[in-house]
Amino acid sequence: MAKPKYTSHVGMVDILPDESPKWRALENIIHEEAARFNFEEIRTPIMEQTELIVRGIGQLTDIVSKEIFAFEKGDSHYVLRPELTAPVVRSFVEHHLDQRGGSQKLYYIGPMFRAEKPQKGRQRQFHQFGVEVIGSDDPVADVESIAFMMRIYERVGIKNFELKLNSVGDPESREAYKEALRSYLKPNLSKMSQVSQDRFEKNPMRILDSKEPEDQEFIKNAPVIQDYLNEETAAHFEKVTNYLDELDISYTIDPYLVRGMDYYTRTAFELTSPDLGSQDALAGGGRYDLLVEEIGGQPTPAVGFAAGMERVLIACEELDIELAEEKSVDVYFVTLGDAARSYAISHLPKLREAGISATMDYMSRSMKAQMKDANRENARYTIIIGDNELAEGKFTLRNMKESEEDSLTFDEIISKLG
Ligand code: HAM
Repeated sequence: MAKPKYTSHVGMVDILPDESPKWRALENIIHEEAARFNFEEIRTPIMEQTELIVRGIGQLTDIVSKEIFAFEKGDSHYVLRPELTAPVVRSFVEHHLDQRGGSQKLYYIGPMFRAEKPQKGRQRQFHQFGVEVIGSDDPVADVESIAFMMRIYERVGIKNFELKLNSVGDPESREAYKEALRSYLKPNLSKMSQVSQDRFEKNPMRILDSKEPEDQEFIKNAPVIQDYLNEETAAHFEKVTNYLDELDISYTIDPYLVRGMDYYTRTAFELTSPDLGSQDALAGGGRYDLLVEEIGGQPTPAVGFAAGMERVLIACEELDIELAEEKSVDVYFVTLGDAARSYAISHLPKLREAGISATMDYMSRSMKAQMKDANRENARYTIIIGDNELAEGKFTLRNMKESEEDSLTFDEIISKLG
């Protein structure tokens, strides 16, 4: 086949008609479960102000320093949203959602954009679903977010994963820990990667997330944050783990788990799957108790997570999980002649109103070609119409699977199939 003149951008893929049913099936599961958890949907624009994303996520993070798609128009600086936590918090503050009372239990589904090097499971336009619970300090909110996340995988049928959990501390505990980490790393800093050296002063905890081989031997014996948590933060973390135990959600505590955004405080978690290959993170999240204030609101604690939807679908493929049923249509009108075509087009709406999916040939093909097309469309029934049938007012209803035929009036067909 000739190379097309236009293609989509690298790392930005079309979801083609054969694939969209599984996307919809996954979205339906998310909407259904969100309703059961009493989460409300929020939809925010694809573009946000650059300043919001830089402040929200952190200037020194990979996302902000390397991965945002940013552009200007007039005096405005836009970015394609790389994630939704900062935008949802922006919306919460802008629209005073706190005035609705209680904590806001929000969920979302949508495309995000990061200028990463594409590979399997890593795209430049990808999709996330997630929740943000804004206004609650209670470990119940942490655990409900995690439980929602796990419930989606359970519904989909993905069972093989690891939930890693950590507390990245409140500001006080974190300062103490950063000091300890700096003293520990300092003697060997010159042997470590340049990225880690750059992070040493401003954000030494991010060094723990380094994938550089030369850093690993220093990271593996680094002090752990659990030893520096103050009483309140340690108690919060313990409650999170107790509730998880009560829910029978298994987890491992990973004291070196840090996340890629600067807004996290206290609980942090990541869900990984061995069925995904090198991009093994299914989802990640945690608390961000300071973000609402950071972007102009009243101090308000919050917690949430986001999950990569492409990665759910990759895992399904690996595990032979069929999320969507095979494509099919209830009725295909097979017509012979103009009068039959008129009859078919004017009776399609009646079938559809009765909840029966129905179609006909759009290409004026022969009866034989229409029957072939009906098979290709996986039609359950064909209604065969020619001049004789029109004169008699009775049509052949053919059950395509059983190869059985009935001669029925249109009303009889509707009551049989409806
Ligand atoms: P994140 O860890 O950056 O967190 O992304 C969450 C998930 O999105 C990842 O675990 C992964 O499954 C998926 N993902 C990320 N980048 C890509 C990509 N380039 N291609 C395909 N999938 C990708 C966040 O975005 C936070 N906002 C999560 C959060 C919500 N924290 C608190 N609330």
